[in-house]
Amino acid sequence: MEKSILLLFTLLNLLFVRLDGRSVLMPKFLPAKISSQHTSGQSAELAYNGNTDGHYVDAAQCVLNSGSDTVPWWMLDLLQSYRIAGVNVWNRLDSTDEVRFTQISLGISSDAAAWSSFNENLFKRCFYFTGAPTDATNPISLTCPSPVVGRYLALYKNRTGLTASTQAYFNFCEVDVYVAVPDNEVANAIQPSYSMTSISLIAALTQMRSDIECLLRCSQLTNCLFVLFRTATLECWLFQSSIIPSSFAAVAGNADAKLLALYNN
Ligand SMILES: *[C@@H]1O[C@H](CO)[C@@H](O)[C@H](O)[C@H]1NC(C)=O
Repeated sequence: MEKSILLLFTLLNLLFVRLDGRSVLMPKFLPAKISSQHTSGQSAELAYNGNTDGHYVDAAQCVLNSGSDTVPWWMLDLLQSYRIAGVNVWNRLDSTDEVRFTQISLGISSDAAAWSSFNENLFKRCFYFTGAPTDATNPISLTCPSPVVGRYLALYKNRTGLTASTQAYFNFCEVDVYVAVPDNEVANAIQPSYSMTSISLIAALTQMRSDIECLLRCSQLTNCLFVLFRTATLECWLFQSSIIPSSFAAVAGNADAKLLALYNN
């Protein structure tokens, strides 16, 4: 009896994957704002809907400002604070308008005033892009030297010194936001009230983007200790205990199944 328990824990330990600090792609469809819209249908959300199509004219999946903003800007509200590592910007690819994406700052703020009324002084600038992008350089990475904590994120343009054709307009098609998730942040989410004696499935989730997203969902629950994630089907099961219920034993044996534990460092 004692041996079988020992064997089980040895097996589980082999299966557990220890997390290193990693970048996680934030979910889409968060609130976004833009300084102005070239046409009424061109809402700020078009740059945060998962559509990276650079063909603005055909697909109308890009944002474009009116061309008359002193400081053109686009903002995103992540709804809570994260350690923001950087963004990838998917540029326009349908004309020569990709060069308009230059002298662009990536700013991060925790101040709600920055969201209600854009003010670049309320953002900490963590990257300044001054390149001359081409189709070949898509997407453009704007990476903070080290992650910056904040809830609001802005891209804003410095028009000074640019030629007439590039200075007025501000356009791009999609922004992917990456946040840093270090080991200890995940581990700190473990609740001290967790009881090893309860054995059960808490929730079965689908359409997870990654094993880390699955684990993050676990870390948000008071009693979640480990997850079983399937890379093939993007299913995520959250458990209260390190004992796999027999009904999940077959799944755990699949090559695409990963067991991930929250560690208490
Ligand atoms: C704006 O661009 C000009 C011209 O390139 C530059 O001299 C200035 O430092 C820039 N301002 C900021 C805040 O980056």
